[in-house]
Amino acid sequence: MMRVVLYSIPILLFQCILSTADVMNGTMKLMMVQALWRHGDRTPTETYHNDQFTEAYWIFGGGGWGQLTPIGMRQHMQLGQKLRARYVNGQPYAFLKKRYDQQEIFVRSTDKNRTLLSAFSNMVGMYGNLDKENVTEPNVTDIDYPDVIGWPAGFVPIPIHTIPDAEDHLLSVDNACALQDTVWNMAKTTDIVSSYFNRSDVKALMGNLTNYCGEDINPENLWILYNALKIEKQYYPVDFQRFTPWYTDSLFEQIDIVNSQVQDFQNGLGLEGVIVNGLDIGKYLRKIRGGTLVNDIYNHMNRKTECSSSDGKECAYTKRMKFFAYSAHDTTLYALFSLLGVAHLAVQPRGYPLYSACAVFEQWQDTKSNETFFKLIYHRHENDTLNYVLTSGIPGCNGNDYCPLSVLKNYSDTYKPEMEMNQWCDYNILSSSSSTSSAFSSLLILTLFYLFVSSSK
Ligand SMILES: *[C@@H]1O[C@H](CO)[C@@H](O)[C@H](O)[C@H]1NC(C)=O
Ligand SMILES: *[C@@H]1O[C@H](CO)[C@@H](O)[C@H](O)[C@H]1NC(C)=O
Ligand SMILES: *[C@@H]1O[C@H](CO)[C@@H](O)[C@H](O)[C@H]1NC(C)=O
Ligand SMILES: *[C@@H]1O[C@H](CO)[C@@H](O)[C@H](O)[C@H]1NC(C)=O
Ligand SMILES: *[C@@H]1O[C@H](CO)[C@@H](O)[C@H](O)[C@H]1NC(C)=O
Ligand SMILES: *[C@@H]1O[C@H](CO)[C@@H](O)[C@H](O)[C@H]1NC(C)=O
Ligand SMILES: *[C@@H]1O[C@H](CO)[C@@H](O)[C@H](O)[C@H]1NC(C)=O
Ligand SMILES: *[C@@H]1O[C@H](CO)[C@@H](O)[C@H](O)[C@H]1NC(C)=O
Ligand SMILES: *[C@@H]1O[C@H](CO)[C@@H](O)[C@H](O)[C@H]1NC(C)=O
Repeated sequence: MMRVVLYSIPILLFQCILSTADVMNGTMKLMMVQALWRHGDRTPTETYHNDQFTEAYWIFGGGGWGQLTPIGMRQHMQLGQKLRARYVNGQPYAFLKKRYDQQEIFVRSTDKNRTLLSAFSNMVGMYGNLDKENVTEPNVTDIDYPDVIGWPAGFVPIPIHTIPDAEDHLLSVDNACALQDTVWNMAKTTDIVSSYFNRSDVKALMGNLTNYCGEDINPENLWILYNALKIEKQYYPVDFQRFTPWYTDSLFEQIDIVNSQVQDFQNGLGLEGVIVNGLDIGKYLRKIRGGTLVNDIYNHMNRKTECSSSDGKECAYTKRMKFFAYSAHDTTLYALFSLLGVAHLAVQPRGYPLYSACAVFEQWQDTKSNETFFKLIYHRHENDTLNYVLTSGIPGCNGNDYCPLSVLKNYSDTYKPEMEMNQWCDYNILSSSSSTSSAFSSLLILTLFYLFVSSSK
């Protein structure tokens, strides 16, 4: 008897410190949150041949191409603070614990310096304990970080997970994938894409830019120039005028228009139902670029729902997990938005999501009917709030802010890849999509199956 009491005091105390009440809105209960963001402000990832802004100009965030700058760090710290306000501090939800709990949150980043550092910066905003404000009991010092001179005041380190970039088909949508190249090459043979690339104004623009840049500028590598110009002008406006005398705002707008159109094509937009070699190009580009991610987001929610009515050991992890964060790229967000039919809402008037743009999927369960819903919130840029709800724009959600999970399941079923991405990327879709060879392989499989069945008898 005595022993029970002695053991249960620390356990009770522990639970009391760590537990948070259910977050309810009427009969709806908040179950889980998944956030997918673009990294913050960065230096150019590369540039054009004649550029006088060499790598030596890019001294920020460790120096060199494509690094997160202090502006980018600030943007993500602030996004982390907004997420903290919404999901920790009760504005409006006290969903996550005030202190970091490793069983409640999982952060995954692409294996790029800028996304990793964005995730760390974001977590400073979410769990940084400067002023020890809002954390009263117990003292986090010597529990979550050492109380020692030299440790940054209030810095609570949070693990950020990643996998090698070449294998990351969840978040790195532009890494090497032969299948994606094949389907994109097919897309370029369509009238829609080739007539755009052939348009005289597009060709004239590429010709002029090729002259200015000292290398071939074409619709497919235009994004490099777009990015470099934008960032150079932002960081070194005076040198920029001197180094880039051919630059005008209207030229930049033309670049932006063509670049955005190319990116739409690459995400399958405008190519819905366009068939080449028996393949729906728009659908395949969506599948390859966004299918794995939508499937992952859906599966997390589906598993959470399944586990809500199970006390089994296999549900222990899922029941405790409440917040997934993905630190990724504009391309990742845009691939997902393209698939969900909301790409036009990514940025107005056009283009890829901006620095620290963030899509937040909330999962809600109606405790009366047990039906599960999701709500998609979009943080458009560094100055935005977490109040812009996109769900109603998703085809199938019928204009509602809370959309049945079955709608997301339909997107997941429609677009999930046909096999594990590392395999699928190496799959020769051309040989399999021609009807004679697929008829032949079906015949072969039937024959093998028959042989197998007969021999096993
Ligand atoms: C609760 O749900 C209603 C109806 O959908 C919505 O208008 C309101 O903003 C929600 N409140 C919170 C705090 O989620
Ligand atoms: C502490 O909580 C209050 C009230 O919930 C909130 O206004 C404030 O922003 C929080 N401070 C920090 C640093 O999270
Ligand atoms: C990190 O930055 C360094 C220095 O620019 C660079 O050499 C390295 O490739 C970067 N790595 C990643 C994964 O971004
Ligand atoms: C909390 O930490 C402060 C400063 O490190 C210390 O003065 C105080 O006694 C601690 N309080 C408890 C309850 O441990
Ligand atoms: C575009 O130009 C290429 C060659 O430059 C040609 O093969 C293709 O048919 C043209 N497409 C259209 C739609 O004009
Ligand atoms: C290309 O440059 C020429 C000469 O400067 C100019 O007249 C023309 O308008 C430019 N065309 C485009 C599409 O930028
Ligand atoms: C909802 O789920 C709970 C727990 O599994 C179950 O007891 C209840 O009957 C379900 N309600 C409905 C309306 O399906
Ligand atoms: C955010 O606000 C600041 C200060 O007004 C401004 O300089 C910056 O351009 C804004 N950023 C965006 C993306 O609108
Ligand atoms: C499922 O998605 C397809 C398109 O991918 C759509 O045509 C169909 O209407 C959707 N079904 C439901 C029930 O939402």
